[in-house]
Amino acid sequence: MTVQTKTIQSQLNLQIANWSVLYTKLHRFHWYVKGPSFFTLHAKFEELYDEAALVVDEVAERLLAVGGQPVATLKEYIETATIEETANETKASDMVATLVKDYTTIKESLNELAKVTDAENDTITNDLAIGLIEKIDTHLWMLHAFLEA
Ligand SMILES: [Fe+2]
Repeated sequence: MTVQTKTIQSQLNLQIANWSVLYTKLHRFHWYVKGPSFFTLHAKFEELYDEAALVVDEVAERLLAVGGQPVATLKEYIETATIEETANETKASDMVATLVKDYTTIKESLNELAKVTDAENDTITNDLAIGLIEKIDTHLWMLHAFLEA
């Protein structure tokens, strides 16, 4: 296995870990959000954790298709993830601010993945990375707009 292949595989595992931590965090926000934005955010957080679950599965199956081994335990997710597993947000705006931070971190790692897959002519994984960046850009625009209200 080339160094570049190994890099792509470990970057895919980083995505699985980060989106898994995000998935759990979004559930906490969905359950604990309070205040005048409850109905909006309760529904939005559900939409986002549903998306995170699909992303985890899609990325893991891509990793399997290229001969890798997806991280698959909670312990590995925590050890591998670069987003933080926080537990202290109580205000809706703090929850949204945490999501801005996490999506930004994930986007940076996707930019790296897009670069290395482009250099390696791995067009399928590149397409996956670009598609996820596109989704995140939309989320970041909406989350920023919420925080400005
Ligand atoms: Fe629910």
